[in-house]
Amino acid sequence: MTETFRVDYDARGRPPCDMFIGRSDEIGRLEKALLPAESGNEKTRIFVIHGLGGMGKSQLAAKYADMFQKRYSAVFWVDGSTKEKYQQQVAELAFRITGAERCEYQLDSLFEHVIAWFRKHANDNWLLIVDNVDRDSGEESSRAYDLYQLLPLTSHGSILITTRDFRLTKKFQSSNVLHLKELNWEDSMELLLKRSEWQGPVQGTVLTVNCF
Ligand SMILES: Nc1ncnc2c1ncn2[C@@H]1O[C@H](COP(=O)(O)OP(=O)(O)OP(=O)(O)O)[C@@H](O)[C@H]1O
Ligand SMILES: [Mg+2]
Repeated sequence: MTETFRVDYDARGRPPCDMFIGRSDEIGRLEKALLPAESGNEKTRIFVIHGLGGMGKSQLAAKYADMFQKRYSAVFWVDGSTKEKYQQQVAELAFRITGAERCEYQLDSLFEHVIAWFRKHANDNWLLIVDNVDRDSGEESSRAYDLYQLLPLTSHGSILITTRDFRLTKKFQSSNVLHLKELNWEDSMELLLKRSEWQGPVQGTVLTVNCF
């Protein structure tokens, strides 16, 4: 991986995931789909986490970013909830990439500049996370747009998308889509105890009481 394209990891912009619990199988799937192959990619790796609101899609993406950021030369998190937010946040990556001061800028040209940066042949080890892409272009909504047309698809790099929209998943191979379900019962209990800062009996005792 070339140092020229290294950008320091910055957890700002993505949701905190300090309380993250479970999901080891799902993280394994992300790892398999998105970590750069030893021999290099032939095309941009894409993986989609799909599921109902509140299911934990963004949490899973944030945890993956945290766990594996050292394996990438750059990890970026952008809000995909509207076309405008996506384009603006991608354009603003120019400041992180170049370290330049913020200034007045033409959004369109900065956006193109950043997309061209992703596509540079030697820049082959980045991860772009596009969170909350909840309105695909098929839907009649002012928030709907075709994200696919705006992605830096090329011969390399990895993209992780989170969405509530089932139709968006149809644009990708099923092996590259994870339909996220609820946390299993044990992990849900652990989360509940952690959240409530439970200081009482150990988990096993609580589980026994709950069985009656
Ligand atoms: N694995 C997890 N460990 C701990 N907390 C979790 C986990 N998954 C989800 N949560 C909790 O559930 C909340 C909702 O999760 P998250 O924001 O990831 O959902 P989402 O699927 O992205 O929802 P939306 O579609 O609204 O964006 C989080 O703020 C967090 O408190
Ligand atoms: Mg989310």
